[in-house]
Amino acid sequence: MKTQWIPAIVLAGAAVQQASAAELTISCGAVGAELTLCEQGVAEWEEQTGHEVEIVSTPNSSTERLSLYQQILSARSSDIDVMQIDVVWPGLLANHLLDLNEALGEAATADHFEAIVANNTVDGRLVAMPWFTDAGVLYYRKDLLEEHGHAPPQTWEQLTAIAREIQAAEREAGNDKMWGYVFQGRAYEGLTCNALEWVASHGGGTLVDAEGEITIDNPQAASALDLAATWPGEISPNGVLNYTEEEARGIFQSGNAVFMRNWPYAWSLAQSEDSQVRDKVGVIKLPHGAEGESAATLGGWNLAVSQYSENPELAADLVAFLTSEQEQKRRAIAGAYNPTITSLYADEEVLEAVPFFGTLLPTFTNAVARPSAPTGDKYGRVSNAFFNAVHNVLSGNQSGADAVAQLDSELSRLKRRRW
Ligand code: GLC
Repeated sequence: MKTQWIPAIVLAGAAVQQASAAELTISCGAVGAELTLCEQGVAEWEEQTGHEVEIVSTPNSSTERLSLYQQILSARSSDIDVMQIDVVWPGLLANHLLDLNEALGEAATADHFEAIVANNTVDGRLVAMPWFTDAGVLYYRKDLLEEHGHAPPQTWEQLTAIAREIQAAEREAGNDKMWGYVFQGRAYEGLTCNALEWVASHGGGTLVDAEGEITIDNPQAASALDLAATWPGEISPNGVLNYTEEEARGIFQSGNAVFMRNWPYAWSLAQSEDSQVRDKVGVIKLPHGAEGESAATLGGWNLAVSQYSENPELAADLVAFLTSEQEQKRRAIAGAYNPTITSLYADEEVLEAVPFFGTLLPTFTNAVARPSAPTGDKYGRVSNAFFNAVHNVLSGNQSGADAVAQLDSELSRLKRRRW
């Protein structure tokens, strides 16, 4: 793990040094079209205000980004003024971030999803403005399902069976790169998101409940993980154990997978001109287990201003611009980034560009939160313990039942030091 983080830190350090001439530095965009869209928004603000901003790009992996930010912030460095922060980080980083209610006024969040505003409010301080929300969805090849006579799956068992059958038939027909299902299987935050969906949709809870009680050691959770462990090497490439969002998208978008779990951003790229699957893709809610209901992990990113910024007011103004309705609409249409402003889900241009923002609205509004609120500043460790345990099961090193029992004791040890 450590060896992966060091190069990222060195890399960002170099980028920050180059950036010192500008008045503000923002770190944004890594996955998919995020960076391009952020550059365009920042350029617009520069034009309107005459100020100069430098953009620092960060590692793709949310886990690596967190480690990088923690280093920068704990050194009280003023190198980065505005940071893109994950929906699970406010509790971890709050002490280093400016109260945006003070900088922007209480009305700044009036039109945004209340749950996200609440998530970003720590001890009464608004530590980040909502930028976009996220929820896991299932992408499938409409053409292949139709050709092979299948309706889209509603359960994980159905997904597994359909994936297996179509993969075999396509390979038989000479399409030897075809896989059934791609997802995020690397040991990082993205696996926490995928595995929470498997567990919750089998009726196995959310790892830690809203009261902070550890709930992971149960048979439904174990069987959800055991089912997922049948995928690598069968309906998913073995390499899935090292896939983040972008590796999964690469396989799906080049036409080599029947199903993919990903976030909404993959839609615009799948629909882009050079995509092999343009107009062949459907997007629906994720499957569920025998005893549960479909669950989508709540994701999303916010913009925060560092306490150590030398230009806090200017930085807050940039944040207000980038999270505004105008920008959220542009990003929704161009990149399928889910707005955090309710009215945009009824906007015709937005719905035309991303039809499932309408059909899957309940998925976005009922997404399941990772237990970052109840575990507070221990969340990073809780998630690490979870994704490592799940990775062990996916790799065939441990049964689901053993993994959840061991995870329960690991989490209990962490909890003894209080969360
Ligand atoms: C997406 C989500 C974010 C999550 C990450 C995991 O970027 O928006 O909340 O932590 O994926 O890979």
